[in-house]
Amino acid sequence: MELYDVMRTTGAAREFTDATVPAATLHRILDHARFAPSGGNQQGWHVTIVRDRAIRRRLGELSATTWARYLAESIAGYRSYNPVHPAPADLAVPDGLPANAMLDHLEDVPEVLVVSVDLRVLAVLDKDLDRFSVVGGGSIYPFCHNVLLAARNEGLGGVLTTFVVASEPEVVPLLGLPEGHALVAMICLGEPVHQPTKLKRNPVESFATIDRFDGEPFTV
Ligand SMILES: Cc1cc2nc3c(=O)[nH]c(=O)nc-3n(C[C@H](O)[C@H](O)[C@H](O)COP(=O)(O)O)c2cc1C
Repeated sequence: MELYDVMRTTGAAREFTDATVPAATLHRILDHARFAPSGGNQQGWHVTIVRDRAIRRRLGELSATTWARYLAESIAGYRSYNPVHPAPADLAVPDGLPANAMLDHLEDVPEVLVVSVDLRVLAVLDKDLDRFSVVGGGSIYPFCHNVLLAARNEGLGGVLTTFVVASEPEVVPLLGLPEGHALVAMICLGEPVHQPTKLKRNPVESFATIDRFDGEPFTV
């Protein structure tokens, strides 16, 4: 595919056919994704390809618990899991919330990749600021997105999910993550039932300005 086409059509796919992902294809995806940038070129990523059904079930259950809380916070009027305006910790999670089909059938997803990062190689330039830190993610999420871009280029699709990260203490022993490694994402991949082609995104003028945040919108 042409690069711009891939960039403009790599949407979140959460429903997959039964088609398996050939090992050579998955290897090729990772072999291209590894050219992602990272601070100091430290490449602190690790990909655990989870095939064991019992482990997948546990990852699905843990993710589904967080999904329920995410929904409950949203229904209560909060931006879910927001660090600036957090929902109260004791917010009740009601019964009967909509299920998350992909998480409930995680065993059947063609490939499940859990991405982790070695925290000891990160340089986090905002770590001492008096606000929530974001820079560390910049050394690992470009790699994750490269996986999705490469999958799209292979005619596959997928989604990056972070629900499981909230359960890191349970996932660390489940996957045998070494000390000092953190969960980043769970990426589900496969042949999508529907390949998204038209993504809803804001125009350049809505987020790019000249000289100052409140400057003129950048247009051509
Ligand atoms: C950091 C990050 C975390 C995300 N976490 C989840 C998640 O936990 N579950 C999920 O279904 N999608 C997750 N997504 C996918 C987003 O929901 C998706 O990219 C967004 O809604 C745009 O969807 P579209 O590309 O289909 O338009 C995540 C995406 C990013 C970049």
